[in-house]
Amino acid sequence: AVSAALTATAAASSLDDLKAVRTAHAGDKSPLALANREIGALPPTAKAEAGKRVGQARGRVGQALKERQAELEEERDQRILIDEAVDMTLVPHREPLGHRHPIELMGTRIADIMVGMGWEIAEGPEIEAEWFNFDALNFDVDHPARQMQDTFYVDPPSAGLVLRTHTSPIQARAMLERGAPLYVACIGRVFRTDELDATHMPAFHQVEGLAVDEGITMAHLKGTLDRLASELFGEGITTRLRPSYFPFTEPSAEMDLRCFVCRGTDPDCRACSGTGWIEWGGCGMVNQNVLRACGIDTDRFSGFAFGMGVDRALMFRTGVADMREMIEGDVRFDAQFGMEI
Ligand code: PHE
Repeated sequence: AVSAALTATAAASSLDDLKAVRTAHAGDKSPLALANREIGALPPTAKAEAGKRVGQARGRVGQALKERQAELEEERDQRILIDEAVDMTLVPHREPLGHRHPIELMGTRIADIMVGMGWEIAEGPEIEAEWFNFDALNFDVDHPARQMQDTFYVDPPSAGLVLRTHTSPIQARAMLERGAPLYVACIGRVFRTDELDATHMPAFHQVEGLAVDEGITMAHLKGTLDRLASELFGEGITTRLRPSYFPFTEPSAEMDLRCFVCRGTDPDCRACSGTGWIEWGGCGMVNQNVLRACGIDTDRFSGFAFGMGVDRALMFRTGVADMREMIEGDVRFDAQFGMEI
């Protein structure tokens, strides 16, 4: 019975195991407990000897159980230390950092260039009064751009509020607030009900420029835009002005950039559709009606204005072919250009 008890004790591999071994080999129903109880029935001569042997046996088993108990407790404590240890060298999981959006960086860059030429930066609301967006800019009441198919009207339409369709309302705001002479640029988001495709977005960005001063001519307009273009796209950039029409400028023009991909040599060019030129935006001499509506003395002052595409400038500068990538919110797209657009 003793050697069976010692073997079982040594074999116990957990504290639970050992508890079962103790019950079986040292408990009330164990062979040793039984032997202890039988001593009473022995003849008096044998009692002392038997008592001594059973006592020794119980002592040895009890001691073995005690030692094994201590060993198993020690093992358990070691395991807890290992399981609950913190590995200070493990590389932590971090959420990727966000990144400033390239359109925003492009806007900042354009603003820096304009400020470098001595211009001020103006801002205006994205939800704009129809009056500023259209009336002050000499749009007839029935001008097609006012129609629902181009313009997002704010409910109810009778409120006279629209999502600004261009940054030009800031021209009117700036003239009314600051008066002439005036050199202001505004970079902002504008909205039109265009379907989203590779080259159109219902929300996009423009940089508006407005200069009002004595003796301002078309040459100042061309010079300013050429300066902006070469700062943005490199000294070698070629531009051209093409006659156009806007209610708020007279004369009006579109400014195109010489295609940077094919330079007019590829009829299937993806950047310019084979025309050799990329349309950048509209411009012109501020219409006298607009100057008057905004309280400018037209005998003394004249002005020029332009509104160029910021998203287009970014596409042109970075070679991004599909505008939709710009608004998908994938930080990997945003970060690929770094912070220097
Ligand atoms: N606001 C015009 C547009 O969005 C661009 C423009 C601005 C044209 C200033 C002339 C002068 O198309």
